[in-house]
Amino acid sequence: MAERHLDSVAAAEADLHAFPWRRKQFADSLAAGHEAWIACVSGELAGYAVVMQALDEVELLDIAVLKAWQRQGLGCALLDFLLGRARQAGARTMFLEVRASNQAGLALYRGTGFSEVGRRRGYYPAHQGREDAVVMRRELS
Ligand SMILES: CC(C)(COP(=O)(O)OP(=O)(O)OC[C@H]1O[C@@H](n2cnc3c(N)ncnc32)[C@H](O)[C@@H]1OP(=O)(O)O)[C@@H](O)C(=O)NCCC(=O)NCCS
Repeated sequence: MAERHLDSVAAAEADLHAFPWRRKQFADSLAAGHEAWIACVSGELAGYAVVMQALDEVELLDIAVLKAWQRQGLGCALLDFLLGRARQAGARTMFLEVRASNQAGLALYRGTGFSEVGRRRGYYPAHQGREDAVVMRRELS
């Protein structure tokens, strides 16, 4: 992901989430040196992901597949790619947080070997009050 992709990534994010990352958050992530990727089909944006590595841990900060491309294996492929990159970079664990109500995300992560290791109560804003984050982890070795 590069600066020139940020308008389309932010537009896709706004279409996918009630509380999306804004363009500036993606820009800040790039500036901070986080690893950010886009997946394209026929040259068009189909998905994206952002990860942050600290020593031997990688945190998955965001992953998404545009609606037109969902349920075709792209989310799983993107996550497998990130897991492979993390392994190559010497990471031993990948962490992530996901909304407790996000059935698609939870199913994707469980299906790719992540397990729930905790909860952050009221971590996310929600339409009515706050929502828990499920914290998940996967060993990479
Ligand atoms: C979560 C997300 C990235 C999955 O991407 P995807 O390309 O549709 O996922 P895949 O096609 O690779 O699906 C892999 C598996 O995840 C699970 N899954 C994906 N979407 C699902 C859904 N809507 N409901 C239930 N399970 C789902 C299934 O187990 C699926 O395997 P199957 O199709 O063989 O049953 C996508 O739904 C998305 O971008 N959602 C909005 C953003 C988001 O919530 N991101 C994650 C939290 S930050």
